[in-house]
Amino acid sequence: MNCSALSSATFLFPLAHTAAPEVAVPRAVSGLAGAWTFDPLVVLGLLGSAWLYRRGTRAHRACLQAAGGTTECVGGLRRWEIVSFWAGWWTLVLAIVSPLHAWGGVLFSAHMTQHELLMLVAAPLLVLGRPLVALLFAIPRGDARQLASFAREPRWQALWRCLTNPLAAWIVHAFALWLWHVPRLYEATLRYEWLHHLQHACFFGSALLFWWALMHGRAGLRGFGAGVLYLFTTMMHSGLLGALILFSDTLVYPAYANTAPAWALTPLEDQQLGGLIMWVPAGLIYVIAALAMLAGWMRAGERPLSWQLAAAIPAARVPAILFCVLCLTGCSDRHREEAAALTGGDPKRGKHRIHELGCGACHTIPGVSGARGLVGPSLEGIADRNYLGGVLANEPQNLMSWLMDPPAHSPRTVMPNLVKSEEDARDIAAYLYTLRVR
Ligand code: HEC
Repeated sequence: MNCSALSSATFLFPLAHTAAPEVAVPRAVSGLAGAWTFDPLVVLGLLGSAWLYRRGTRAHRACLQAAGGTTECVGGLRRWEIVSFWAGWWTLVLAIVSPLHAWGGVLFSAHMTQHELLMLVAAPLLVLGRPLVALLFAIPRGDARQLASFAREPRWQALWRCLTNPLAAWIVHAFALWLWHVPRLYEATLRYEWLHHLQHACFFGSALLFWWALMHGRAGLRGFGAGVLYLFTTMMHSGLLGALILFSDTLVYPAYANTAPAWALTPLEDQQLGGLIMWVPAGLIYVIAALAMLAGWMRAGERPLSWQLAAAIPAARVPAILFCVLCLTGCSDRHREEAAALTGGDPKRGKHRIHELGCGACHTIPGVSGARGLVGPSLEGIADRNYLGGVLANEPQNLMSWLMDPPAHSPRTVMPNLVKSEEDARDIAAYLYTLRVR
């Protein structure tokens, strides 16, 4: 049971990991061919999911042949669904393993292409391939049944209903999309490979959720109308984001300023091309999906029952829950990610150092045990404060500088020089920036 739960997690989440791989940086077209990114965990996740899906489709075929269509295999996979899964899987390979990934590190427009492939091609194709059904066939029958009964527990059902509510999925997806395009956060993903992967996981994960909710959510007859609306509004807001980037006359993401010229584009042209890709081709995909949904709506008017079929397999809901939980835990620690991105430090280590250095003797510091000192100001909400020690603008560099030598900034302060290394300063600053008012 545990084992199958684990494998279903890799199955759905090939992008989640923490390792920091070496990414080759292509400098010219000739360098592209060799710039594959073989991150062990990504490759493992991809291979694992391919293996499971293939196992599932084989078992399904065997089941059909043996049972001649008894209830066990009903609701199984159709040929076009299988084709769709593999198309989605190869798109994932193209997006995160092929040189496109490394290319995105030096060219904004390539990066946008990669994101659109993840969110608008791979995600819907994989969802159409009904990987959860394949998964249920791939694991032993007993496990599948256990999983199914587990899925019927009321609290899972409630959580699942909440997660696959199209409006919730719409919001999560929109939030992920806009948040990760905030320039500071976006640029941090170019510096830290793990953050970059987190970004991709959020994009891809929230897109899976979005398409899932649209295609398999509590669709029914009314679902189609709502689906068209959700598609249309997503097209509008993501198009707006693309248009904002396209029409900006300053560089939104200056990190590409040095690397874009190697590709015969000025940085601004590169940015405009990226914005255009987000706006037009991506918008087209939403339009096509909306048209398909309209067609389904009309057909459903005639044969509403056929469309209830997918929703009728309760067991198929479990792995999706696991995946959603994974994605939510990945996305929930925003403050931590942001703080780390701002400072380049490790908040967790910072917290340890704060404890070890005894800052708590003078400061009250949320989250640090025993830190209830009253000599200095409480550090609660320090991230949202305007000034440090009343003298320095509250910016990452200033905070680190303050930590390393308070008297240099405020000669009469009683706060001593406790932080000796830059690494400590960075990590401590990272932790302090997780302390927000809200
Ligand atoms: C001996 C007491 C003392 C110790 C120990 C101490 N501080 Fe302070 N700290 C102060 C005082 C007092 C201030 C108020 C600023 C001033 O004096 O100008 C301050 C200010 C600060 C500020 C600016 C807060 C603000 O709102 O302006 C930060 C951040 C800070 N300390 C972090 C730390 C950290 C991290 C440590 C541990 C490495 C630490 N302090 C150790 C006394 C101390």
